[in-house]
Amino acid sequence: MSKKLVAGNWKLNGSLQANDQLLDASVAVPGVDMAVCVPFPYLAQAQSRLVGVALGAQNVSEYDAGAYTGEVSATMLADFGCRYVIVGHSERRALFGEDDAMVGRKALAAQRKGIVPIVCVGESLDERKAGLAMSVVGRQLAAVLEVAGADAVGRMVLAYEPVWAIGTGLSATPAQVGEVHAGLRAWLNAHGVAASGVRILYGGSVKPDNATELFAVPDVDGGLIGGASLVADDFLAICRAAVA
Ligand code: PGA
Repeated sequence: MSKKLVAGNWKLNGSLQANDQLLDASVAVPGVDMAVCVPFPYLAQAQSRLVGVALGAQNVSEYDAGAYTGEVSATMLADFGCRYVIVGHSERRALFGEDDAMVGRKALAAQRKGIVPIVCVGESLDERKAGLAMSVVGRQLAAVLEVAGADAVGRMVLAYEPVWAIGTGLSATPAQVGEVHAGLRAWLNAHGVAASGVRILYGGSVKPDNATELFAVPDVDGGLIGGASLVADDFLAICRAAVA
Protein backbone atom coordinates (compact mmCIF):
# COMPACT_ATOMS: atom_id res chain seq x y z
CA MET A 1 0.00 0.00 0.00
CA SER A 2 1.54 3.31 -1.01
CA LYS A 3 0.21 5.95 1.35
CA LYS A 4 -1.46 5.44 4.69
CA LEU A 5 -4.89 6.89 5.40
CA VAL A 6 -5.62 8.68 8.66
CA ALA A 7 -9.28 9.52 9.24
CA GLY A 8 -10.62 11.57 12.13
CA ASN A 9 -13.96 10.58 13.61
CA TRP A 10 -15.40 13.58 15.41
CA LYS A 11 -18.37 11.55 16.69
CA LEU A 12 -21.08 13.69 18.32
CA ASN A 13 -18.88 16.71 18.92
CA GLY A 14 -18.52 20.17 17.49
CA SER A 15 -20.15 23.53 16.96
CA LEU A 16 -19.90 25.99 14.10
CA GLN A 17 -17.45 28.07 16.06
CA ALA A 18 -15.26 25.27 17.41
CA ASN A 19 -15.18 23.55 14.03
CA ASP A 20 -13.82 26.63 12.28
CA GLN A 21 -10.65 26.49 14.35
CA LEU A 22 -10.26 22.75 14.05
CA LEU A 23 -10.86 22.73 10.29
CA ASP A 24 -8.51 25.62 9.65
CA ALA A 25 -5.81 23.84 11.65
CA SER A 26 -6.38 20.56 9.80
CA VAL A 27 -3.91 21.21 7.04
CA ALA A 28 -2.81 18.49 4.67
CA VAL A 29 0.35 16.63 5.66
CA PRO A 30 2.36 15.52 2.59
CA GLY A 31 2.86 11.77 2.30
CA VAL A 32 -0.36 10.68 3.98
CA ASP A 33 -4.00 10.65 2.91
CA MET A 34 -6.14 12.46 5.45
CA ALA A 35 -9.88 12.62 6.07
CA VAL A 36 -12.20 14.04 8.70
CA CYS A 37 -15.62 12.52 9.34
CA VAL A 38 -17.89 15.20 10.74
CA PRO A 39 -21.51 15.20 11.98
CA PHE A 40 -24.05 15.63 9.15
CA PRO A 41 -25.01 19.26 9.88
CA TYR A 42 -21.40 20.34 9.52
CA LEU A 43 -20.70 18.76 6.13
CA ALA A 44 -21.15 22.03 4.26
CA GLN A 45 -18.94 23.92 6.68
CA ALA A 46 -16.22 21.29 6.46
CA GLN A 47 -16.53 21.04 2.68
CA SER A 48 -15.95 24.77 2.34
CA ARG A 49 -12.87 24.83 4.59
CA LEU A 50 -10.90 21.63 4.01
CA VAL A 51 -8.02 21.83 1.56
CA GLY A 52 -6.22 18.65 0.61
CA VAL A 53 -8.03 16.75 3.35
CA ALA A 54 -10.94 14.52 2.33
CA LEU A 55 -14.39 14.89 3.80
CA GLY A 56 -16.28 12.02 5.37
CA ALA A 57 -19.48 11.26 7.26
CA GLN A 58 -20.06 8.91 10.18
CA ASN A 59 -23.13 7.04 9.00
CA VAL A 60 -25.29 6.57 5.91
CA SER A 61 -28.73 5.19 5.21
CA GLU A 62 -29.08 1.89 3.44
CA TYR A 63 -31.90 3.56 1.48
CA ASP A 64 -31.42 6.12 -1.24
CA ALA A 65 -34.66 8.13 -1.03
CA GLY A 66 -38.21 7.92 0.20
CA ALA A 67 -40.25 7.73 3.40
CA TYR A 68 -37.38 7.12 5.85
CA THR A 69 -37.64 9.94 8.36
CA GLY A 70 -34.34 10.99 9.85
CA GLU A 71 -32.17 9.11 7.39
CA VAL A 72 -29.37 10.60 5.26
CA SER A 73 -28.60 8.96 1.93
CA ALA A 74 -25.35 8.34 0.12
CA THR A 75 -26.61 10.59 -2.68
CA MET A 76 -26.90 13.44 -0.18
CA LEU A 77 -23.41 12.76 1.17
CA ALA A 78 -22.06 12.78 -2.37
CA ASP A 79 -23.77 16.13 -2.90
CA PHE A 80 -21.51 17.56 -0.19
CA GLY A 81 -18.37 16.03 -1.66
CA CYS A 82 -18.00 13.20 0.83
CA ARG A 83 -15.30 10.80 -0.20
CA TYR A 84 -15.63 8.46 2.80
CA VAL A 85 -18.27 7.30 5.23
CA ILE A 86 -17.75 5.31 8.40
CA VAL A 87 -20.06 2.30 8.45
CA GLY A 88 -20.73 -0.12 11.28
CA HIS A 89 -18.85 1.71 14.00
CA SER A 90 -19.18 -0.28 17.22
CA GLU A 91 -21.13 2.57 18.80
CA ARG A 92 -23.73 2.26 16.05
CA ARG A 93 -23.81 -1.50 16.39
CA ALA A 94 -24.13 -1.42 20.18
CA LEU A 95 -26.29 1.66 20.74
CA PHE A 96 -28.37 1.94 17.57
CA GLY A 97 -29.10 -1.65 16.72
CA GLU A 98 -27.09 -1.99 13.52
CA ASP A 99 -26.51 -5.65 12.75
CA ASP A 100 -23.91 -7.24 10.51
CA ALA A 101 -26.19 -7.44 7.46
CA MET A 102 -27.32 -3.83 7.79
CA VAL A 103 -23.70 -2.74 7.91
CA GLY A 104 -23.19 -4.61 4.64
CA ARG A 105 -26.18 -2.90 3.03
CA LYS A 106 -24.98 0.51 4.16
CA ALA A 107 -21.48 -0.12 2.82
CA LEU A 108 -22.92 -1.12 -0.53
CA ALA A 109 -25.29 1.87 -0.60
CA ALA A 110 -22.33 4.21 -0.10
CA GLN A 111 -20.20 2.53 -2.70
CA ARG A 112 -22.95 2.69 -5.32
CA LYS A 113 -22.76 6.49 -5.08
CA GLY A 114 -18.98 6.57 -5.29
CA ILE A 115 -18.32 6.99 -1.58
CA VAL A 116 -15.73 4.74 0.00
CA PRO A 117 -17.12 3.00 3.09
CA ILE A 118 -14.79 2.63 6.05
CA VAL A 119 -16.23 -0.59 7.46
CA CYS A 120 -15.53 -1.05 11.16
CA VAL A 121 -15.11 -4.45 12.74
CA GLY A 122 -13.94 -5.42 16.20
CA GLU A 123 -14.49 -7.64 19.19
CA SER A 124 -15.63 -6.86 22.73
CA LEU A 125 -13.42 -7.51 25.75
CA ASP A 126 -15.38 -10.66 26.64
CA GLU A 127 -14.98 -11.94 23.11
CA ARG A 128 -11.25 -11.28 23.18
CA LYS A 129 -10.89 -13.01 26.55
CA ALA A 130 -12.73 -16.00 25.10
CA GLY A 131 -10.27 -16.14 22.19
CA LEU A 132 -12.94 -15.10 19.71
CA ALA A 133 -11.44 -11.90 18.26
CA MET A 134 -10.73 -13.33 14.82
CA SER A 135 -13.98 -15.24 14.56
CA VAL A 136 -15.99 -12.12 15.47
CA VAL A 137 -14.34 -9.91 12.86
CA GLY A 138 -14.64 -12.74 10.34
CA ARG A 139 -18.37 -12.99 11.01
CA GLN A 140 -18.79 -9.21 10.66
CA LEU A 141 -16.87 -9.22 7.41
CA ALA A 142 -18.70 -12.24 6.03
CA ALA A 143 -21.98 -10.36 6.24
CA VAL A 144 -20.53 -7.48 4.21
CA LEU A 145 -19.12 -9.91 1.67
CA GLU A 146 -22.46 -11.65 1.32
CA VAL A 147 -24.29 -8.40 0.62
CA ALA A 148 -21.68 -6.64 -1.50
CA GLY A 149 -19.58 -9.35 -3.15
CA ALA A 150 -15.81 -9.76 -3.38
CA ASP A 151 -15.13 -7.07 -5.98
CA ALA A 152 -16.93 -4.44 -3.93
CA VAL A 153 -15.23 -5.45 -0.69
CA GLY A 154 -11.91 -5.14 -2.51
CA ARG A 155 -12.64 -1.44 -2.96
CA MET A 156 -13.63 -0.77 0.66
CA VAL A 157 -11.53 0.44 3.56
CA LEU A 158 -11.63 -1.70 6.71
CA ALA A 159 -11.04 -0.46 10.22
CA TYR A 160 -10.14 -2.89 12.98
CA GLU A 161 -11.43 -1.28 16.14
CA PRO A 162 -11.43 -3.51 19.22
CA VAL A 163 -14.39 -2.26 21.25
CA TRP A 164 -12.40 -2.35 24.50
CA ALA A 165 -9.80 0.04 23.05
CA ILE A 166 -12.20 2.74 21.87
CA GLY A 167 -12.17 5.86 24.00
CA THR A 168 -10.59 3.97 26.89
CA GLY A 169 -6.99 5.12 26.54
CA LEU A 170 -6.14 1.40 26.38
CA SER A 171 -4.87 0.84 22.87
CA ALA A 172 -4.36 -2.67 21.58
CA THR A 173 -0.69 -3.66 21.59
CA PRO A 174 1.24 -3.77 18.32
CA ALA A 175 1.29 -7.58 18.63
CA GLN A 176 -2.50 -7.77 19.04
CA VAL A 177 -3.03 -5.36 16.16
CA GLY A 178 -0.60 -7.22 13.92
CA GLU A 179 -2.27 -10.55 14.58
CA VAL A 180 -5.75 -9.34 13.69
CA HIS A 181 -4.66 -7.26 10.69
CA ALA A 182 -2.73 -10.19 9.24
CA GLY A 183 -5.74 -12.38 10.00
CA LEU A 184 -8.07 -9.97 8.21
CA ARG A 185 -5.86 -9.86 5.14
CA ALA A 186 -5.66 -13.65 5.08
CA TRP A 187 -9.42 -13.87 5.56
CA LEU A 188 -9.99 -11.56 2.58
CA ASN A 189 -7.65 -13.54 0.35
CA ALA A 190 -9.27 -16.80 1.39
CA HIS A 191 -12.67 -15.37 0.42
CA GLY A 192 -11.73 -14.21 -3.05
CA VAL A 193 -11.09 -10.55 -2.22
CA ALA A 194 -7.96 -8.94 -3.67
CA ALA A 195 -6.67 -8.14 -0.18
CA SER A 196 -3.48 -6.35 -1.21
CA GLY A 197 -5.58 -3.39 -2.39
CA VAL A 198 -7.65 -3.10 0.79
CA ARG A 199 -6.51 -0.56 3.32
CA ILE A 200 -6.92 -1.86 6.86
CA LEU A 201 -6.91 0.92 9.45
CA TYR A 202 -6.47 0.48 13.17
CA GLY A 203 -8.67 2.44 15.57
CA GLY A 204 -8.87 2.58 19.36
CA SER A 205 -7.02 5.08 21.54
CA VAL A 206 -4.49 6.06 18.88
CA LYS A 207 -2.55 9.04 20.27
CA PRO A 208 0.59 10.92 19.21
CA ASP A 209 2.67 8.83 21.61
CA ASN A 210 1.63 5.42 20.31
CA ALA A 211 0.90 6.20 16.65
CA THR A 212 4.42 5.56 15.38
CA GLU A 213 4.62 2.04 16.80
CA LEU A 214 1.08 1.16 15.69
CA PHE A 215 1.63 2.42 12.14
CA ALA A 216 4.88 0.43 11.95
CA VAL A 217 2.97 -2.84 12.38
CA PRO A 218 2.80 -4.81 9.12
CA ASP A 219 -0.64 -4.72 7.52
CA VAL A 220 -1.60 -1.47 9.28
CA ASP A 221 -2.48 0.97 6.51
CA GLY A 222 -3.50 3.90 8.65
CA GLY A 223 -5.75 4.85 11.54
CA LEU A 224 -9.27 5.83 12.53
CA ILE A 225 -8.89 8.44 15.21
CA GLY A 226 -11.61 9.46 17.67
CA GLY A 227 -10.72 11.60 20.68
CA ALA A 228 -7.34 12.73 19.37
CA SER A 229 -8.91 14.03 16.15
CA LEU A 230 -10.61 16.77 18.16
CA VAL A 231 -7.25 18.31 19.08
CA ALA A 232 -5.61 19.68 15.95
CA ASP A 233 -2.03 19.31 17.18
CA ASP A 234 -2.63 15.69 18.17
CA PHE A 235 -4.38 14.82 14.92
CA LEU A 236 -1.57 16.36 12.88
CA ALA A 237 1.08 14.60 14.95
CA ILE A 238 -0.69 11.28 14.28
CA CYS A 239 -0.87 12.09 10.57
CA ARG A 240 2.85 12.86 10.51
CA ALA A 241 3.54 9.53 12.23
CA ALA A 242 1.78 7.83 9.32
CA VAL A 243 4.09 9.30 6.67
CA ALA A 244 6.06 6.48 5.10
P1 PGA B 1 -10.78 6.76 20.05
O1 PGA B 1 -11.98 6.36 19.05
O2 PGA B 1 -9.61 7.15 19.18
O3 PGA B 1 -11.31 7.89 20.85
O4 PGA B 1 -10.50 5.54 20.85
C1 PGA B 1 -11.76 5.66 17.86
C2 PGA B 1 -13.05 5.44 17.15
O5 PGA B 1 -14.09 5.25 17.81
O6 PGA B 1 -13.10 5.46 15.90
